[in-house]
Amino acid sequence: MMNFLDFVLLLWVTIGTIFFGVCSWRYFFHPLARFPGHPLFVISDFSMAICVGLGRSFSSVRKMHQRYGKIVRTGPNKVSILDMSVLHALYKSAQSFEKDDAYSLGASEGEGLFFIKDRSRHAKRRAIWAQAFTATSIEKYTPYLETCTSKLMTTIMAKSKIGPVDLGRLFNHWAFDLMGLMTFGPSNSFGLLENDDPDHLVENCREAASVFQSYSLSEIPSTFRLLSYLPVPNPIHGLQKLAEQNLKKFEGPGIVNSTTPIICSLLSKSGISHADVVDDVLFAIQAGFEATATILTFAMFYLTSNQAVVSQLQDELDHTFGTPSPSKTCAMDHPTLSELPLLNAVIKESLRLGSPFPGLTRVTPPQGVMLAGQYIPGGTVVSVPVHALHLSSEHFSPNPERFEPHRWIFPKEGEPQFMTDELALIPFSFGPFGCLGRQLAMKELLFLIATLVYNFDITFPIGFDEEKFLKNVRNLKATHFDVGLLVHLEVGAL
Ligand code: HEM
Repeated sequence: MMNFLDFVLLLWVTIGTIFFGVCSWRYFFHPLARFPGHPLFVISDFSMAICVGLGRSFSSVRKMHQRYGKIVRTGPNKVSILDMSVLHALYKSAQSFEKDDAYSLGASEGEGLFFIKDRSRHAKRRAIWAQAFTATSIEKYTPYLETCTSKLMTTIMAKSKIGPVDLGRLFNHWAFDLMGLMTFGPSNSFGLLENDDPDHLVENCREAASVFQSYSLSEIPSTFRLLSYLPVPNPIHGLQKLAEQNLKKFEGPGIVNSTTPIICSLLSKSGISHADVVDDVLFAIQAGFEATATILTFAMFYLTSNQAVVSQLQDELDHTFGTPSPSKTCAMDHPTLSELPLLNAVIKESLRLGSPFPGLTRVTPPQGVMLAGQYIPGGTVVSVPVHALHLSSEHFSPNPERFEPHRWIFPKEGEPQFMTDELALIPFSFGPFGCLGRQLAMKELLFLIATLVYNFDITFPIGFDEEKFLKNVRNLKATHFDVGLLVHLEVGAL
């Protein structure tokens, strides 16, 4: 009869043997074994889970490419490919690869657009959403954009009299309020700009995105997702409640009959289930506010750090719109803004440096596929590393890590020459799952950056540590700025 100690010893030996066997198989014999990668990442997803948990997976993946080359094994069954030639197959074409398990929401009755993997159901839902993003629809949102921006200006002017302003925080409130109006209609404003977000909606949304990201952290992706079925506080459930509450308020006849394409109305009228509508509207708020506020924060950080560019941009705006005055804020029409070379260059450069994603994950088809000249077996999770691509000297040089808006403008004689590969800028992704809000986001970015630079002189307060700001950017689906973007805004120009 085996005693207890012998049993424990045998158990440990068995676990050790299995562990050693699995690691050896993954490292030496796995079909992906011929691709280089750090041994700790190749034998287990645990190392990547730590990088993701710390919010720095985007820079870890970039470092791996710098060390191992174009194709890197970032997990036992994961490969990151830093090669433009694979963009079409992975994301762009109508037959592009499926989303991987990381896109499943866990315990939720409904299924929002972003989480639908089945192609034909996804395409049908996307067609409903698309009505909100036609050129005509986006034009109809202009009054919302102007209302939120003038509230932002009022808030900035009040706060800047007291001291430095946390501009990143205000961008979140601005973008959240704006998405609230577009999603639930003009009488359902969240009022974050007026009330400073007493219910921590912005924080809850970012936390919910991070919880969602953590579902894909474990060796078996569904392990973490199981937590979503437990009756413990979960920010995703909190957001579903918020969506429910606003849906109830929304059901006024005035809004349902509104000529402005309110997202909630489009979805409610489409015949999809109530649970699907709930998940869709919460995604609308999340998708619409978070990425836009993030890019705005990066843009204003880089501009404030580069005062020479700010002066040139102010010249461009003054030359186009005349001397600043409060009444001119809303006169900045989109067609004119979208033609301004430096303004557009600033936005492209902010999108390039402000996309801290490791890569959007897709799964290769069962029969396997040739990618970048290599056979990749079926069922492999593949991605193109957005951050690494945006900072690659092969596509952007010199100084790919530096904020240089002029790399997007054809140089005049005597000006520095840049090598810029426009096609390597992919912040919105593309294809059947690509960003639906791209044109809207560009309109928001053009309008707000122009309004701020035109009306204010913006500087960092003494002691603001620019390096620390950048080092404390984390990305867990949502981007977190652990050091706030504190700035002085000189309102004298108004
Ligand atoms: C600068 C701002 C923005 C950036 C960088 C951005 C980026 C992206 C990216 C990369 C995706 C693909 C995600 C994936 O495949 O995992 C995406 C999807 C999406 N975005 Fe955006 N986005 C921005 C603003 C917006 C706005 C303002 C909206 C408006 C609601 C929006 C709506 C969507 C939707 C609906 C999808 C899902 C499309 C689908 O699954 O078919 N985005 N976005």
